[in-house]
Parts: sequence; structure tokens; C-alpha cells
Amino acid sequence: MTTKKIVLTGDRPTGPLHIGHYVGSLKNRLILQETCTQFVMLADVQALTDNFDNPQKVRENVVEVALDYLAVGLDPGKSTIFIQSLLPQLFELTLYYLNLVTWNRLKHNPTVKQEITQKGYGESVSAGFMVYPVSQAADITAFKAEIVPVGEDQLPMVEQSNEIVRHFNRIYHTNVLVEAEALIPKIAARLPGIDGKAKMSKSLGNAIYLSDTADVVAKKIKGMYTDPNHLRVEDPGQVEGNPVFDYLEVFDPDKEKLEEMKAHYRRGGLGDSVVKKRLAEVVQAELEPIRQRRAQFEKDRGAVMQLVLHGSQRAASVAAQTLSEVRKAMCLDY
Ligand code: TRP
Repeated sequence: MTTKKIVLTGDRPTGPLHIGHYVGSLKNRLILQETCTQFVMLADVQALTDNFDNPQKVRENVVEVALDYLAVGLDPGKSTIFIQSLLPQLFELTLYYLNLVTWNRLKHNPTVKQEITQKGYGESVSAGFMVYPVSQAADITAFKAEIVPVGEDQLPMVEQSNEIVRHFNRIYHTNVLVEAEALIPKIAARLPGIDGKAKMSKSLGNAIYLSDTADVVAKKIKGMYTDPNHLRVEDPGQVEGNPVFDYLEVFDPDKEKLEEMKAHYRRGGLGDSVVKKRLAEVVQAELEPIRQRRAQFEKDRGAVMQLVLHGSQRAASVAAQTLSEVRKAMCLDY
């Protein structure tokens, strides 16, 4: 019998998920849930590190993101969906791990550094925010996760987690903690915003959400940024750096037709509206079943919450087992 690999993944519930999340990670989770033991975490405690003054927002988005998960087809029978704050074990682990990490090391985590700049925290950055990579190490190790599917920006987190694992196992002469491998998903694609900016994000207001209605999606695609120099239909247009074509590359299953369209656009004679019409067609086809599943689940938000609470119980019992091994290794097994 082959044992399934353990996967831990999750999102900060600070906003609804968009098609960038879908092609960047959600699709990959649908594959992983078939072959691995997957835990999917609604990282509300991590979300609070930069939203501590807006707990209502985090609370609302826990439910929204859970709905997004179910809508794309995460199956609670295959993936354990859980709420981070319901697992106190994670925070106990965090405190123990903090002893094994230097302040200097935390200050040099490139992702944290970048976020501090972006959010303008400067020297007033909270201690909670500074140590969130350690809390993330607790998330990963509590499940003895072997695989952590992440985007590039999360690589430093997995690295730091593995350092903690090695440090812990060495100091306490044990092997209870397991190193994880960061998996940059093969099928992951990165979508720019509909405004042509490098990143699709809620704060930039340039995202297409999984929860958007068909009308809203249609409008957003119609208004998408294209090649700004492609003024008349007969003008030659640029495909590179044109988000409409970036999206088609990801969503259009008919690659032959896409190559023809690209050639035609470059030559001139192909209007943006025609290309956008094709994009709307393929994006709506992909989103429609997701919208339908979402509508089903939305009818009973209480039941959705029950699924997640049940998942949290399952997750907590796994974390509790690891915690008891950790406590034993640390001579805390009273
Ligand atoms: N840092 C992740 C994000 O910003 C969320 C997260 C928290 C996470 N803990 C994790 C992801 C553990 C993978 C593994 O989206």
C-alpha cells in the first residue's frame, strides 16, 4: 500500500477569490485532492496580522472563501477545509518555535520585508506581523506536511519552516517534525489584472472574481486593457503584454484557433472586440459551473459552516497529535 502524501495549503481570507487564484492555485488543489491527503486552511489568524483592526472583514471572508473553495470543486470528503483560529495547537507550536528563530532572520525574510514596504509599516510594524512566518511554520509542521503548493512569494516561508524543522529536530534529538517541499504547481499560470497591471488583486480593483455574475464578468472583459497602440482594426496589434491574449493563453482550449488569432492580430485586421468576445466565451464557459455550484451552496450558508467546522475538528485532532509529540520532545509531557 502506498501512503498518500500530505499537502497543506491555504489562503488569507481577506477578499473573495478571483480567476488569478483559480488558475494559480485552486485548479492545482483539485488535482492534488485526488492523489494526496490535502488540508486547506482558511488562514484567518494570519489575515489578522495585517487586518487586526478589521476583524469583521476577516470573518466575512472566511465564509466567502469557503464558498469559493466548494464552488470550484474542493470536495470536503477529499480535502479537509478548516479555520486556522479553531486550532489552538498551532499557536502553542508557534510559541515554541519562536525560540528557535532569531530576530535577525525574521527581519530578512524577503516576503515580509516587501510587505512591510508595501503597507508602509516601517519601524511601527507589529511583532505579530514580523513573526507570521513562524506561525506559518506551525501550520505546515502541525500536519507533517510533505508538500506545500505555493506561489514564488511564499518560497521564503517554506524555507524558514524547514530551517525550524531541522533546528528543532537537532536540538531536541528527535525526528517528530518533517521537512516540506514547496511545490510550484506545473499548471499554475499567472494572470495580470484586467487593467494590464502585472498583478490581479483586490486592492488594485482589477480582478474578475469567481463570485462575479455573468453580467459583471462580461462587462469587465469588455473594458479590458489591450494594446494601447491598436487604435483601428486594420492596425497591427501587439500580442505580448496584452492581457486579453494572456488570458486566452490560459483559458482557450482551442490552441490552433488561438495561434490563428494571434497571427491575425499581429498582421492587423482583427478588432479587439472580436478577441474579447472569444475571451468572454471561454471564460464564461469555465466560470458557469463554478457559479452554479456556488449558488447551490449559498442557499445554505449554515451547512457550509458545518462542513468547515467539521473539517476543523478533523484538522485539530491531527495537530493535537503532533503537538503532543512536540511537547514530549521538549520535556513538556507532564
Ligand atoms: N501565507 C499564505 C497567503 O498569504 C497563507 C498561508 C498561511 C499558508 N499559512 C499557510 C499557505 C501555510 C500555505 C501553507 O496566502
